[in-house]
Amino acid sequence: MSKRDFLAMEDWGADGVEALLRLAARIKRGEIEGGLERRVLAMIFMDPSLRTRTSFETAMFLHGGHALVLEPGKGSWTLETEHGVVMDGSSVEHVVDAARVLARYADALAVRAFPKGNDWAVEREDRLIRDFAHYSDKPVINLESTRRHPCQGLADALTLREHLGQTRGKKFVLSWAWHPKALPTAVPASAAIAGAMMGMDLVVARPPGFDLDPDDMATITRLAGAAGGTVSVSDDLDSAMHGADAVYVKAWGALGAFGRPEEGAALRKPHREWRLTSDRLRATRDGKGIVLHCLPVRRNVEIDDAVLDGPNSVVVNEAENRLHVQRAVLLELLGRP
Ligand code: CP
Repeated sequence: MSKRDFLAMEDWGADGVEALLRLAARIKRGEIEGGLERRVLAMIFMDPSLRTRTSFETAMFLHGGHALVLEPGKGSWTLETEHGVVMDGSSVEHVVDAARVLARYADALAVRAFPKGNDWAVEREDRLIRDFAHYSDKPVINLESTRRHPCQGLADALTLREHLGQTRGKKFVLSWAWHPKALPTAVPASAAIAGAMMGMDLVVARPPGFDLDPDDMATITRLAGAAGGTVSVSDDLDSAMHGADAVYVKAWGALGAFGRPEEGAALRKPHREWRLTSDRLRATRDGKGIVLHCLPVRRNVEIDDAVLDGPNSVVVNEAENRLHVQRAVLLELLGRP
């Protein structure tokens, strides 16, 4: 039987995502114990993390398994990610060999690798996570790649369901925020996919020039249509907020200036006021729209203190849900039958 990876929510289809969400809800209620005894998860972090690393380590421990963490270049060999190169530079080990060897020790691999910020036309292919999935004969879990953060998206979907109940037809605003750095688009794309798969009416509010990748928008639109939802785009944040049931705040960089930081910063500069304030929150449905953010968040840059610490904010529950959905993913991929 071929192995199964968790690289993107949409790969699992509506039924697969629904099964994961139901399992996560049962896990959160304390109905499921064990199931990963003597199982090993090897996690490769090419980039930093607080939530993803600790929640996966905790998940493996809670179910009787073990998680190990490698940080290439910090205690494990630096990885070469290009194919066909003469490795006479600083990289010591090729991803092909690392994936094959780790799959002999572990029952699953999990990989975090952000874009390098050079060339979107190349990096949008998401080659590193796909190489790990190709060369590992054990399941591979995406801990955030260039294009997707499916564990975050799954936690977002569980959070939306918990707080809104029936999600179909409810208004979900994905709100771009100003940020000093050009952040990747994996989280906003995955959040939009989560809202689309939940059948919500999604509004992507962003300044002109900050569209998500067109293929991601096509995927989001297809998924929303299949689930009974809609997708629209707005460059007016204040009008987009009217009647919102959920607001997901996220900063991301202009893909048109990918790899050109000064040009990207100049494009962001006029939009410093794209920030979730208490005034903007009052325009949501009865002023009670829930506020999501993947964290880490830059306080008073992306979202004001009063919003993050107020009653509409569900960001800590959203972060907690990372643990529950990942326990579900691990049990599905590695659990004993
Ligand atoms: N949201 C998220 O993935 O958090 P970390 O980057 O801390 O893992």
